[in-house]
Amino acid sequence: MDNTQYLDGSFDSQEDSQEQLLRPHYLRDFQGQEALKENLGVFITAARERDESLDHVFLSGPPGLGKTTLAGIMANEMGADFKVTSAPALEKPKDLAGILTTMTENSVFFIDEIHRLKPALEEMLYIAMEDYEIDWVVGQGPSARTMRIPIPEFTLIGATTKAGQVAGPLYSRFGISVRMDFYTPEDIARIIRRTASILHVDIQENSIEQLAGSSRGTPRVANRLLRRMRDYAQVLADGKIDSRVVTEGLKRLEIDHFGLEKHDREILRTIIENYHGGPVGAETLAISVGEAIESLEDFYEPYLIQRGFLQRTPRGRMVTDLAYSHLNLNKRNNEDQDLLF
Ligand SMILES: Nc1ncnc2c1ncn2[C@@H]1O[C@H](COP(=O)(O)OP(=O)(O)OP(=O)(O)O)[C@@H](O)[C@H]1O
Ligand SMILES: [Mg+2]
Repeated sequence: MDNTQYLDGSFDSQEDSQEQLLRPHYLRDFQGQEALKENLGVFITAARERDESLDHVFLSGPPGLGKTTLAGIMANEMGADFKVTSAPALEKPKDLAGILTTMTENSVFFIDEIHRLKPALEEMLYIAMEDYEIDWVVGQGPSARTMRIPIPEFTLIGATTKAGQVAGPLYSRFGISVRMDFYTPEDIARIIRRTASILHVDIQENSIEQLAGSSRGTPRVANRLLRRMRDYAQVLADGKIDSRVVTEGLKRLEIDHFGLEKHDREILRTIIENYHGGPVGAETLAISVGEAIESLEDFYEPYLIQRGFLQRTPRGRMVTDLAYSHLNLNKRNNEDQDLLF
């Protein structure tokens, strides 16, 4: 069984229909990330008091950390309409113009995967963000002319897992930039506690901590792991999630106490065994492990880097000593073998 499809934070599965139920709607329900929450709370209150739209917000960070959730929360806290789209869904200028011209005053407009916006649309967005107007070409041929059409004041929230790929001129037009990072185990425990209570899952306190440690610091992964443990508890035990269920469940899902999945370990092992521990280029590595470069870079690598298993160098990816010891592989032996064969 390929477990990754259940745990990969980057892809929506049918289970995500339950995400609506679990998604916090106001800042007070959003667990963890205290500094970020406090700042946003101030900006939102200030904008509301001035009866203005919130400044444009740029959200970046690995998948499943709560970017979409936060965007919805900002709209709710502002008491504003919320429009959602993603850059790949916007094909032509008229797609974007259609949304911009039908917004209400102070609306929150969320564009996911903003790094994939087409250049022509990006230009339209510049003017919209700055002047609350759009350029629109009317007529055809020699009689064509450009009209400036006013649009309501709005807040653009752009989210991306690839902050580095967003064009400078676009990025510079966001007044607020939030970089989301992995959650602490304590924050993840809070999220699991909240989810368990919403879904009426019976789970022991020490099992919450155990699960939190294996959740890659990612709320979406934590919620999915909790559901899997609920399944195991139901079928293999008496319905209550205790440490026996979690230990057995994690073993069956091949997730270790660092939160690494089988595929994470395969990536590290491939670098060690095929590329002497690195450096190896991301494209080459992606092909070697049979993974799309996007999921390698967006989902697997950030956590491996954050936990100190992997390093990004100008010449490519390299594993660290921690990777050797975690996989029980000996660095010297590895080199010796090369000399032998
Ligand atoms: N701080 C939080 N507190 C409680 N639950 C959270 C929090 N952040 C995220 N979640 C939960 O995790 C799930 C994933 O969050 P979300 O979809 O917002 O992530 P994302 O960053 O937009 O991911 P992607 O990059 O894949 O779009 C949500 O359904 C939500 O229930
Ligand atoms: Mg999202």
